[in-house]
Amino acid sequence: MIKDYNFGYTKVNSKQKTKLVQNVFSSVASSYDVMNDLMSLGMHRLWKKRFVEIMDIRENEFILDVGSGSGDIASEILRENLPTRLYLLDLNQEMLSEGKKRLKKENNIKYFIGNAENLNFESNFFDKYAISFCLRNVTKYLLSIKEAYRVLKPGGKFCCLEFSTPKSPLISSSYRLYKSKILPLLGEVVAKDKNAYKYLSESIDLFPSQEELSKDLVDCGFINVESINLFNGIVSIHTGYKL
Ligand SMILES: C[S@@+](CC[C@H](N)C(=O)[O-])C[C@H]1O[C@@H](n2cnc3c(N)ncnc32)[C@H](O)[C@@H]1O
Repeated sequence: MIKDYNFGYTKVNSKQKTKLVQNVFSSVASSYDVMNDLMSLGMHRLWKKRFVEIMDIRENEFILDVGSGSGDIASEILRENLPTRLYLLDLNQEMLSEGKKRLKKENNIKYFIGNAENLNFESNFFDKYAISFCLRNVTKYLLSIKEAYRVLKPGGKFCCLEFSTPKSPLISSSYRLYKSKILPLLGEVVAKDKNAYKYLSESIDLFPSQEELSKDLVDCGFINVESINLFNGIVSIHTGYKL
């Protein structure tokens, strides 16, 4: 099998990439929430709040959260206090279990183990598709965007929150230093897994820029594609609609 996928800076084949990424999430599942707060100094909470505002949830919508992890996006959606049908999907059992533990009293949530690349849902089913800090980890990332398009209803909204490319050179250089030196160190001390956080840093470096991802969304059929930068583009919210 050709090694044409990146696991961070290491070249691997597609099966290896999916397995290695899943090993990362199995290893960090129990410390994932603490690490998120520490690494972003709590900022990820603001980013996710803004993300859900931009999702613009309405009553009775069917919402799919792909790579739902420990349930941050679902919790934020529930805070809107609207009746919705929430479908949480993750490829990793340990991460999905963290989410289930946290949201156990909510009975309008369905949980699925599954791959973003090959969704086991019928076409034209969801009003909203959310993917937060997951797309970067998907092996065949274009396939997952095509799947998002397929499962959305016509008029349905695609929403992605992901690390992106800072716009200012000054922020870009200090951020590069933070990612390459401080992140792996924090990972070693708190999550006891330096390599997982080295992967995180490298996967951010290699992820498409705002412009590249917007182009991929358009190529997959989405219209009115936009990206909204937060923190100078350290993270970005990408949206698009199915025709
Ligand atoms: C960084 S976590 C993000 C969790 C949550 N969405 C958040 O914003 O905090 C990424 C999640 O994506 C999941 N994931 C990675 N590759 C996936 C794939 N191909 N299909 C579905 N989930 C995937 C991981 O297991 C992990 O739970």
